[in-house]
Amino acid sequence: MGVNSNIVITGFMGTGKSEVGLEVARRLGREFVDMDALIEQRVGLTIPEIFAQHGEPFFRQQERKLCYELAQKRGLVIATGGGALIPEENRRVLGASGVLVCLNCDVDEILRRLAQAEDRPLLNVTDRRERIEALLAQRREAYNRIPHQIDTTGLTVEEVAEKVIELLVQKIVVRTPTGSYPIHLGNRLLKRIGELAREQGLKGKVALVTNPTVEELYATTVMESLREADFEPAVCQVPDGEAYKTLDTVRSLYDQFIEAGLDRSGAVLALGGGVIGDMAGFAAATYMRGVPLVQVPTTLLAMVDASIGGKVAVDHPRGKNLIGAFKQPRLIVSDPLVLNTLDEAEMRSGWAEVIKAGMLGSPRLFEQLEERGNEPALSVIAEAIRVKVAVVEEDPYEREQRAVLNLGHTFGHALEVLSGFRLRHGEAVSIGLVAATKMAIALGLCDKGVEERLLALLQRFGLPTCYEGYEPEEIWEAMATDKKKRGKKLRFVLPKAIGQAVVTDQVPKAVVLEILERLRER
Ligand SMILES: NC(=O)c1ccc[n+]([C@@H]2O[C@H](COP(=O)([O-])OP(=O)(O)OC[C@H]3O[C@@H](n4cnc5c(N)ncnc54)[C@H](O)[C@@H]3O)[C@@H](O)[C@H]2O)c1
Repeated sequence: MGVNSNIVITGFMGTGKSEVGLEVARRLGREFVDMDALIEQRVGLTIPEIFAQHGEPFFRQQERKLCYELAQKRGLVIATGGGALIPEENRRVLGASGVLVCLNCDVDEILRRLAQAEDRPLLNVTDRRERIEALLAQRREAYNRIPHQIDTTGLTVEEVAEKVIELLVQKIVVRTPTGSYPIHLGNRLLKRIGELAREQGLKGKVALVTNPTVEELYATTVMESLREADFEPAVCQVPDGEAYKTLDTVRSLYDQFIEAGLDRSGAVLALGGGVIGDMAGFAAATYMRGVPLVQVPTTLLAMVDASIGGKVAVDHPRGKNLIGAFKQPRLIVSDPLVLNTLDEAEMRSGWAEVIKAGMLGSPRLFEQLEERGNEPALSVIAEAIRVKVAVVEEDPYEREQRAVLNLGHTFGHALEVLSGFRLRHGEAVSIGLVAATKMAIALGLCDKGVEERLLALLQRFGLPTCYEGYEPEEIWEAMATDKKKRGKKLRFVLPKAIGQAVVTDQVPKAVVLEILERLRER
């Protein structure tokens, strides 16, 4: 299902279509349409009145017209009337605009739920049970044709809404010079990793690389899913933290791989944030000259950035990510529900990268963030992933265009280093984004409105927009030294507009220093 497809909820009366639809819309930040309510509003009569004054065929005709109208739109959550999707035509029309979900419920519970209902013309009979059973029997075949079915018996509205949201899995395909691979994004996907890995042709032993923090939270679910799909998984643990993203830790991974009997017919699965992904990826690239890699990112940053694009690396005492390789995964599985356990500071760090993605490649993503704030909505994460995918597809080996991904990072990295990494990566990127935007304005590349929107958004996400404690000259030196160490020219990525960035090395030092001076907290 695409990011913006409609979600159409149908089912018999009393199955909770409207309440569930409303709750799903609230959780996803989408517009909700209750078809019955809309018809009532347009005709100016209640449904019993429409039935009484105009007859059922008139009402069905209104439904059909509305199906055509709503099918032209996207991003809606629609609750239909109980009979709206009985005609095949209506199912086809609305089905083409999104995902159709049918809610079911046992007759006793329907009777209980509708005990007080006076507004159901079809239930104006003495024996309601008989009537419900007859109607259900009549409609059963049509309901059965709806692709997704949810039994709501005994469930709360919230629980059903959650089940509907679970159905919304996105698949984004990444093309690389060595083939393509899917990114699956959806709630509760951890439980389906085994099945998804099978679909990619993987089998045999799986070395599940993780750290104690993530292992405790999620390894059991992943191990079970792998076993169910006939894999032979073994946990390979490394300590938690960037300090351990080293060749020494990778050597310990090789030992554990050998111990587990891993060979090229098996796979390495990275379960964790960017540190785990980078390190397990590097081990997978080098162990036995390369074994398949599955990325299962568990931080926001790793979902939208680190897991995508095939760059894997470990740190060297002389620099971050100095020892590395390109290793494309066979698949990436992202389950945003794992973000519920991530601490706030880590989430903020991830949001800085999501905002960066909007700034450099997607005005729509930027607007979504402005509209709905920091709820980790599936569509927002999907859009940030698409921005990264588009860039890495253009430049798989980081020759030219990938440089735009460094928007905010030239300043950000210098600040991170100067602070002895006390400033978090995302916080540094946030300040870096402001610096890049101010610089673009100073050079006449973009207008002031961009800065205003960026500042408002960063503040809304609790991200810093200025720094303290360093002289501009010190920051300049940190930026220049880093590049000199890597034998590269000092280049800046600057926004031209929301969703558009350019790379330039034509920025005079005086302009940089002036911007840095303006960014100091006083
Ligand atoms: N390869 C790339 O293209 C690329 C891109 C960007 C960043 N990176 C790398 O990514 C790393 C940073 O990644 P990160 O920000 O994900 O940090 P991280 O991997 O250190 O994770 C942050 C912390 O969160 C914990 N954690 C992870 N998932 C959790 C969850 N669901 N619930 C609770 N705790 C959880 C981790 O154990 C860790 O303590 C850096 O090493 C950076 O170099 C790589």
